[in-house]
Amino acid sequence: MADKTYENILIEREGGITFLWLNRPDKRNAMSPGLHADMDDALTWLATDKQTKVLVLGGKGEAWCAGQDLRLYFRGTQDNPEARHKANSDSHSWRWERLTSFPKPTIAMVHGFAFGGAFTQLCACDFAIAAEDATFGLSEVNWGIIPGGLVSWNLTDMMMPRHAMYYAVTGDTFDGKRAVEIGLVNFAVPKAKLREEATKLAEKLIKLNPNVVRYTKEAIRAVRNMDDKQARDYLKSKQDSLVRNDKEIREQHGMKQFLDEKSYRPGLGPFRKVESV
Ligand code: ACO
Repeated sequence: MADKTYENILIEREGGITFLWLNRPDKRNAMSPGLHADMDDALTWLATDKQTKVLVLGGKGEAWCAGQDLRLYFRGTQDNPEARHKANSDSHSWRWERLTSFPKPTIAMVHGFAFGGAFTQLCACDFAIAAEDATFGLSEVNWGIIPGGLVSWNLTDMMMPRHAMYYAVTGDTFDGKRAVEIGLVNFAVPKAKLREEATKLAEKLIKLNPNVVRYTKEAIRAVRNMDDKQARDYLKSKQDSLVRNDKEIREQHGMKQFLDEKSYRPGLGPFRKVESV
């Protein structure tokens, strides 16, 4: 199937990697109601798109995302409860529900600016790589609101608590290297290498068993809010379900390759898919 086209976003699929771009460069990819609707539709489609093995979320132009569009999202809907409700619902849906439940790995690839509401999709992605000189900011305080939607929750979930408090209350900006230090992104790389590094990570993920990757990422997210007994029970059921759903795991190819064939070292790399499976 050809790439779908949208007014506010762009999709490029190549070699299993789907680059999903916010595409309002003139507005620094501020999120308008139209962009939210486009993203919600695209992520619904891509979740089951066979060509999409890994999703990389980027921004066209100088910014990754300048947060909610103050003109179109806030002012534009303030006297229209139906439009506000729709925008709010689409905004939450794609930035949190669709991304956190996306069945394939997701990578936020951040350059330029990432402000305010952009933190939700940043935290919703499984991995994040930033340009060293990217500028992150919880700018809400500068214009008199709190980090709303889910942003305050995202901060305390993802960042060390002192840093969440500091950056939310002061609105101070920080760069990609600092974002690594405080737990917000995995790596910071020179801007010129950002796409190359995101692609490397995506290619590494593509080599792994997709069911194991999916179940693992779902497990890591789910156990955070469980106690030890709930987690143990959940993980047992999750593993059972993985074995039921994946022939390769069920037939213990990894175990055979290590114990019988002695053809690989599981500590050092993924076992390869068996052609006949
Ligand atoms: N909402 C609406 N329009 C925006 C936004 C935004 N969040 N961010 C940028 N734009 C628009 C500007 O109004 C401008 O439009 P215009 O050309 O029609 O005047 C255009 O994008 C370019 O913006 P500039 O400010 O000229 O670009 P610059 O590169 O100098 O600065 C920056 C970029 C730092 C991102 C600046 O635009 C800014 O501070 N934006 C607001 C960021 C913010 O506070 N976001 C949080 C919003 S609140 C929330 O998400 C809950």
